[in-house]
Amino acid sequence: MLFHYAREHFLEGLNFVYRLSANIVFTDKGGQFAAYRKLPFQKWDYFFDLSAGFSWRMQIELQAPPPEPRWPAGVELRPFDKASHDRLVWQADAQAFSDHFGYTPGTFENWQLRVSGRDKDGTLWFIAWDGDQVAGYSLCRYRGGIGFVGALGVVRPWRRRGLGMALLQRSFGEFYRRGMPTIGLGVDSQNSTGATRLYERAGMHIASEFVLYEKELRLGRNLADGH
Ligand SMILES: CC(C)(COP(=O)(O)OP(=O)(O)OC[C@H]1O[C@@H](n2cnc3c(N)ncnc32)[C@H](O)[C@@H]1OP(=O)(O)O)[C@@H](O)C(=O)NCCC(=O)NCCS
Repeated sequence: MLFHYAREHFLEGLNFVYRLSANIVFTDKGGQFAAYRKLPFQKWDYFFDLSAGFSWRMQIELQAPPPEPRWPAGVELRPFDKASHDRLVWQADAQAFSDHFGYTPGTFENWQLRVSGRDKDGTLWFIAWDGDQVAGYSLCRYRGGIGFVGALGVVRPWRRRGLGMALLQRSFGEFYRRGMPTIGLGVDSQNSTGATRLYERAGMHIASEFVLYEKELRLGRNLADGH
């Protein structure tokens, strides 16, 4: 009814609205997961054309230091030096995340503004090197009062050798050492490279789930058409 009214009365006049999104968040507190998973979602599906996906906030509350990381042969951690490493980390990040759902290539300058300009504490950036190549990285910071793994990636040739786990454990260990036992991160629940399995193996659990529903109100217009 609302969509019908909206479509009839004002949407045609607007150039920028063509999708209505609802991002619904559930947490694991008070049995919310169990309750909402029983909801008749067909009712939502009636209103929304597509459920665009689930993403998770995963978390760990460490009671003791995590296991010491075991680095794959030939791979070592070196202190992050912004001036000489920034571009190489960006390249590794772009390569690792080119496999990720929704990835769009961006420029180094944009990445610097969005990522390396924001994460002020370079001692929370863990960069794994194989010779002069970045094999993997874990870019951490504090967020929302807890430790946060903002980006974790392993470049394809170094995958499935335990580097992802080692980087995660190194990150957990550093937060624990600094007196911060709660660490979180965000992940697409359908992550095609098995990240959710990695996080569960490392002891993380789902703290909240985001469900994105979308309704296409009308087709998008190509702005280049001048309409
Ligand atoms: C997710 C990601 C970081 C994992 O990195 P990784 O270094 O391959 O991780 P690990 O090697 O620790 O574990 C991956 C798998 O290899 C297996 N493995 C680990 N060591 C191994 C070894 N020596 N021999 C064989 N298999 C091994 C693990 O058991 C795990 O198996 P599973 O996927 O069946 O559960 C990496 O795939 C990636 O960068 N993906 C793209 C970016 C991304 O999605 N990041 C996370 C977003 S939140």
